[in-house]
This record gives sequence, structure tokens and C-alpha cells, in this order.
Amino acid sequence: MKNKSSLKILVVSILTLSMFLGCVGEDETGLKPYQDPNLPVEGRVKDLLKRMTLDEKIGQMWQASPDLVRTYNNFDEEKARKLVIGYGVGSFLSIAGEDTQKLQKIAVEETRLGIPILFGIDAIHGHALYNGSTIFPMPLALSSSWNPGLIEKTASATAKEVASTGVKWTFSPILDVARDPRWGRIIEGFGEDPYLVSQLGAAKVRGYQGSDLSSQDSILACGKHLAAYSETTGGRDYSPADISERTLMEMFLPPFKEAVNVGVGSIMTSFNEINGVPSTANTDLVRNILKDEWEFDGLVVSDYASVRMLYDTHYVAEDLEDAARCAVEAGVDMEMVSEAYMEHLERLVIDGVVPEKLIDDATGRILKTKFLLGLFENPYGSLDPSVINSRQHRNLALEAAEQSIVLLKNEGILPLKDARSIAVIGPLADDPSNQLGGWTGDQPAENVVTVLDGIKNNAPQRTKVRYSKGCDVLGEFDNIKKATRIARRSDVAIVVVGELENMSSEPNCRVSLNLPGNQGELVRAIHHTGTPVVVVLINGRPLTINWIAENIPAVVEAWFPGQEGGNAVAELLFGKINPSGKLTMTFPKSVGQIPLHYNHYPQKNWDHGKYGKRYVDIEDEPLFPFGYGLSYTKFDYGNLKIIPSKIDKKGEIRISLDVKNVGKIRGDETVQLYLNDVVSSVTTPSKELKGFKKITLNSGEKKNVKFTLTPNELSLVDRSMEWVVEPGIFEVMIGSSSEDLRLKGSFEIIE
Ligand code: NOJ
Repeated sequence: MKNKSSLKILVVSILTLSMFLGCVGEDETGLKPYQDPNLPVEGRVKDLLKRMTLDEKIGQMWQASPDLVRTYNNFDEEKARKLVIGYGVGSFLSIAGEDTQKLQKIAVEETRLGIPILFGIDAIHGHALYNGSTIFPMPLALSSSWNPGLIEKTASATAKEVASTGVKWTFSPILDVARDPRWGRIIEGFGEDPYLVSQLGAAKVRGYQGSDLSSQDSILACGKHLAAYSETTGGRDYSPADISERTLMEMFLPPFKEAVNVGVGSIMTSFNEINGVPSTANTDLVRNILKDEWEFDGLVVSDYASVRMLYDTHYVAEDLEDAARCAVEAGVDMEMVSEAYMEHLERLVIDGVVPEKLIDDATGRILKTKFLLGLFENPYGSLDPSVINSRQHRNLALEAAEQSIVLLKNEGILPLKDARSIAVIGPLADDPSNQLGGWTGDQPAENVVTVLDGIKNNAPQRTKVRYSKGCDVLGEFDNIKKATRIARRSDVAIVVVGELENMSSEPNCRVSLNLPGNQGELVRAIHHTGTPVVVVLINGRPLTINWIAENIPAVVEAWFPGQEGGNAVAELLFGKINPSGKLTMTFPKSVGQIPLHYNHYPQKNWDHGKYGKRYVDIEDEPLFPFGYGLSYTKFDYGNLKIIPSKIDKKGEIRISLDVKNVGKIRGDETVQLYLNDVVSSVTTPSKELKGFKKITLNSGEKKNVKFTLTPNELSLVDRSMEWVVEPGIFEVMIGSSSEDLRLKGSFEIIE
């Protein structure tokens, strides 16, 4: 027995070794080594690369636009053949369903080497560009759940739906730390804090990719946009980032590093430049930091036509050929949509400008990804239509929405009791398409539960529900009078206002954070009827709703809550769920306060005696702080223990505390841990989130919550731009929001 198994090991080792040396041709079944799923991926890549012409390698490095295989929006077989057989296209953007099957068949059956195509699509909150799929809350909404496990589940449900349409790659998660609420793409990400974005981004990567990329249900994730894309000028999309190396390292790179740590399979370079260097041509960022320093071995894709942008937008390349050179040298393996690689790389290699080993490295990464995804064995996807908008996924969409909603204000009016008649008012109360958020294709209205539907579904029997739109979001249609009439006749008015779906997401930014159109007027008019008002917000960014926050007794932030959003809002209004969402972005009181984050540097707090106040026309505080959100119950914090109180730089600190639900109903609390490195060689934020835990407690129940702080959480970027842990005192602050800190303690790091 022993001898037999050692013989087997010997044979496998010889085979593997000879694969690396490239001496194996075909096995007895006629399979070439790259076609043999039993051989190691590295060897398969090597074998396949050896068989490929330069042209074929460059074809793999192109992600073509879907328009190139369509005529009048219909699949065009002739164009498809030309691209797939003629150019050997490695990937297509935004094609899902039937057309993937036709293209894949050509690639697998009619090309010389049968290399399958990798299809990629934006599925940032469900497979939302695909008609009929499950639509989860937008990522900023989901981040308010502070629940990585839930986020992972939504991503794995999304992966199932995406894979069932022949697609194995999604351009998600967005890992841009959101710094300016005017920027439209903050709704696509996880808020303003680098630690939170890292944790939630990693959860999403795990959800998409699962434990085995080759499983039928897994898809490749893509961390984007490397880097500092969210550091805009004036909140505009596609604007240059002018930032220090310190800010880049402390604020923008950590979520990408974390994604790499958990094995993200691809990274997208951003449209923007950083300090004069566009990311798609940034060798330091892509090749040196990402690929060499962090040892990222997946594939790097450019953003949409951002290779071409190097010459026609940024003007750092002479022409398209020069753009191809810049991007490939920087380490961009695949070009999305533009055709610089396709048209010019061959010449650049033949002329000796670009070494062929760069092409081999890029193509090798793409092929490796295809092998890991199991595309050679199963090129067509899981093709199981029953997962699309399944009952299980709809339930998950409901749970996700329930946990994403943030109760901003409640002066005892919620949950609603004894309301026999309810007026549902507002332009977003019954607007299915504006409830889903960006990156959503056409979706059947009947799949979407609006707030009006949700209230009808969840209101106690015999409750009279009246509806009036009142006005449009943009103010074109105005029937505020009718709305006030129904409000007068009702016990309570639920006014649903906010932003249109196309006021956020790429590239839709705003200069104002006020409620658009006449919606403010609508809310005031309903309030003046004397009927108690609850404002429900459906929107893509923090809004300066100062008047509402001051005058309306209850305010609910629902964001773009997805297809089950209406049910979730109604459950919250009627007390069927207890709100648990917490803000992941600071709400300013005025656009003039931006940038406004909780993790600011200490100088912001400097109290200069009589000159203490900075703005003469507004206080410096936010409207609602980071981490804030109300519950229908109350939690007490106590019994903080920090062990040990002194430790060396490599040590770990264990923190524990008790949280008790002292209210009458069950509820969830997100316990937040903030740190302050009290004296350090460089300034550090007055508080930084370094841990969080969401727990559920029954009325009267107490739970012990534990955190462990490792050197990762304690380190700072020192004056030589190195991540180090410095000796000294660290203050620990634990609480229910960045402002509501209930427990404080400290520990010391010694040399
Ligand atoms: C441009 C966007 O910036 C990016 O996020 C997206 O993934 C690509 N287009 C593909 O749609």
C-alpha cells in the first residue's frame, strides 16, 4: 500500500515537473496539458502560453464592448465570429444570458485553442442590470447594516444569479472611501471610514468568490477603483485627486490591501489621476505597490476606456500606441473597451519597445483566472434560472433592507400605534424605478414593493390608507393642496421624499445637498396641517435636511433600499422590526462644511479661546454623526476590561465589555470601538474606528462583547512613510456612535 502511494506521488511529481519544463505534449486521451483539469494551474498556464501566438495573447488582453457584436441591438453572428475568431477577444463587458452562450460556443468550439471568454458585468447590488433579478439595497445602504455576514450573503446570492446567466466576473466591490457627499458614486460604496470599507469590502469579496472560485456558484470579484477615485475636486466625478502620499496610504489604500489579503481575483484601475499621474499609467501604484509589494497575483483591468484616456483626456500619452505602452508598462493586464492594446501592442513588441515578457505576464494572469474559475471545464455557467429572484433571495433582500434603514429621529411617534388612517404622501412613495438605485436595468415594476405597497401589506386590518403624490421630485408636477387634504383626514402622514435614482451613481453629482424641487415645501405643508408627520427618505447621499431634522418628529433614512424596501420601511413604521442601521457617512448641515468626517485630525478641535468658533454662520458640528442611528430600545454599556494594560509592539490587546438591553423589546446594537494614539511622531485622527460588532439582545438580556487589537489596528504611517506601531498610550473609546461614546480606557505600548 505504502509503495503504491509513493509510486503515485512519484508519477504525479514527474508529470508536474515535466509540465513546468514544458516537455509534455498530449496525454493518452488526446488532452493537451492545458486542457487537463488534474494538472496544476501554473503548469496549465505555462503550457497554453507556449502554444499561443503574440496575436492570440494580445486578444486575451482585450475586453470588448457589447456594441461590437450587435446590430440594432440584436446579436450579430457575423460580427461575433469576426471578434472571437478573428481577434481572439479574451473578455466581453456587460453581456449576460443567451448571447454569452452563443459567443462562448464560438470561442470554445471554433477557435484554434478553444480558450473560453470571461464575461464581466456590474452587479453591485444584485444582478441588477439583468431583467428580473433580485435587487438588494445599494451598497451605501447595506453598509448601514454594519453586518459583514449579511453583506457576504447578498454577494453570494448575487454570484449565483450572475453565474446562472453565463457570467463569471463582476466589477464589485467599490472600495473607494467616500469623502464628499456631493460625489454621486458614494452610494456605490461603503461610506467614509477606511476600516469599515475594508471589512465590508472583504465580506463582499468572500461572498462573490466563495471558498472555491471554480464552483458553479462563484464569480470573480473586482476591487475598484485603484485609487483615490473618491477624492474628488468639488464633488465632481472624474476629477483629479491632489493628495499627499500619507492620505493615500492611510485613507485610500487600506481597503484594497484588505481585499488582496482575502484573495480578491481582480482589481480595476481608476479613471482619475493622483498628483499628476493617471492610475492606468501609474507603475508605482499598480506594478510596484499592488503587484510586487502586496503580491497580488490576480488580474488588473482598466476602467472603461481609461487606457485611451491617457492620450485623449489626460494627455500623458502621445497617441493611442503610446497609451498602450504606458498602461502595459504600469501593469494593466486587460484593457476595457478601448482598443489601444488590440491595435498597437503587437507592433510595440515587434519593435522591442514593450518586452514580450510583460505580455506573457498579463496574459498569464488572465489565463490563470480563467483556469481558476473553471471556465475551461465549464465555460457556459451554472445556467440555473431558478435562482433568479428566488423566494430565498427575495427574503434576503428584505432582511438586507431591514438592516440598512437608519432611524434618524423619533420623538415618540414611532412605532405607529392606533393609527386608524394613514396618509401616504410624496413623489417617492410609490415609484418602483426610483427605489432601486443606480446600475439597475429595466426591472418589472411588479417585483418592487414600494413604501405605499409595504404600508398596505403591513398595516393593521381596517387601517384606512390614502395616497397622494403631492409633487414630483424635481417639482414639475405640483398637487400639494390635494396632499394636505388627505393629511388632514388622517391620523398620521408618512411623507416619502428624496432623490431620483439618476441623481447619484456614476457620474451624477450635485452641488446642493438639499431636497430637490418642491419637496421641502411639501413636507412643510403637510406638517402645517397639524397631523403628525414621519418623513421617509429615499436617496443616494447624506442630505442637509436641517429643517426636517428640527421640526418633524420622526425621520427614517431608507437610502435606495432595493426591491423589498417598501416592506422593510413599513415593518419599521409599525414596529414589526426594531431599527438597527447606523450611518456610515457624516451628515453635514451645509455643503460649506464639506469635507466633514468623524476621523479628523486633532487641530480641528483646537479651542482658540474667544476665537474658538470657526464658521461665523454655522456651528461646526454635523447634523448626524458617523455611526449614529436610533433603536426602539435602549442599551447600557459597562464592565470595560483592557488586557494587558501594557504590551510590546507586536502584542495583542484583548478588550471586553458588557452590553445590556434595558428597554422593553428585542433589538440589535452595533458596538463601535474607536482608538486614539494619544501622542505620536505624526498627527493621527482624534478617533478612528478599529472594531465593531453587531449583536442582538432580548429585553433585559446582557451580552459580553470582545475585541482583539493587533499591530494592524495600532499602526500609523510614520515620517519615513512606513507603517509602524509606536510606543505610548492609546485611548480606547467604545459606544453606540462616533459621538455617543459610553466607555473609555487605555493601554500602553512599550518598546
Ligand atoms: C465605468 C465605471 O467607473 C466602473 O465602475 C464600471 O465597472 C465600468 N464602467 C464598467 O461598466
